[in-house]
Amino acid sequence: MSFKNIDIPIIEHLSENFFINEEKLSDKLSISREDVKKQIQLLKKLGYNFYIDNLKGYRIIKRPDILLPFEIKNNLATRYIGKSVYYFPELTSTNSVANQMVRENTDKIPEGTIVIADKQGAGKGRSGKKWFSPVGGVWFSVVLYPKVDPSHISLMTLTAAVAVVKAINRLYSQININIKWPNDILINGRKVCGILTEMNTEGKKIKWIIVGVGINVNNCSYQLPEDISKGTISLKEVTGKSISRVKLIQHLCIELEKVYEVLKEKSYSAILEEWKSYNNIIGKEIKVNTGENIITGKAIDINEKGTLIIKTKIGEIKEIISGIVSPLKNGEG
Ligand code: BTN
Repeated sequence: MSFKNIDIPIIEHLSENFFINEEKLSDKLSISREDVKKQIQLLKKLGYNFYIDNLKGYRIIKRPDILLPFEIKNNLATRYIGKSVYYFPELTSTNSVANQMVRENTDKIPEGTIVIADKQGAGKGRSGKKWFSPVGGVWFSVVLYPKVDPSHISLMTLTAAVAVVKAINRLYSQININIKWPNDILINGRKVCGILTEMNTEGKKIKWIIVGVGINVNNCSYQLPEDISKGTISLKEVTGKSISRVKLIQHLCIELEKVYEVLKEKSYSAILEEWKSYNNIIGKEIKVNTGENIITGKAIDINEKGTLIIKTKIGEIKEIISGIVSPLKNGEG
């Protein structure tokens, strides 16, 4: 499979702050003036708008919120996350494509490579569920090569959850946002983001992991099937405004790199403390559907492996690796 990345090289030489003409652009990129014109046309189709002066050339007057690699990498203050970007207007699932890219070109996909799409046709959620991914959201996967034990992999999901909350808070500090174990990010009790971490192992070693993050941004919950839309919310619905997906992804790359560095130092307790400061279940009576059975009790802690610890009514301590948590209603349990 070839992973054709949409990139339009002249964008790197165009700016809001100065004019540049076709001759200079063709020299800089060693392409013909005809090719320069074609790329300008393509940019216009994508929503860029230019002030055009016959002599001075082009100056950008409008930049669309489009996830071109250049836009993401432009002034991105990270060392490795987001330095290599693959953007697709539409694909099956960013997790599946990222996984396939690494499988087929392991040495050529550097740590921190991200795969993003405007739309996913077969987005994957947890427990084999479909993840609806219409245009307007951020559907994003990052490739990482952590040197942690596979038993600590759940911590990677918690790490990503902390990074998402911090990234959203960078843009909107007033939002009441929290994390439902292990990977749901909620605003006003409705899901704004889900995280799916997939790993590839060899024996007891992690070869690579793909952290997939789906954030409802400028899409609307009514675009989703009725049973899902009730429990879902997008950032646009919360703030009443469209949000720059490019800025959000940049903040996400920055925050993810910071928290991931903490994970690489094996400072697990620091990540857990941060996660706990955003969580909304510890101390509460809950029920967890593990897929095999339903466990009810009080959520008392999360341990270093990201496992949820529950104390049941009869005082038994249960450790739960994965499951779907919901609050315990009166009369249940
Ligand atoms: C969940 O069920 O809460 C996890 C949802 C994860 C969705 C994201 S969108 C980007 C990435 N690609 C996928 O196919 N899934 C994840």
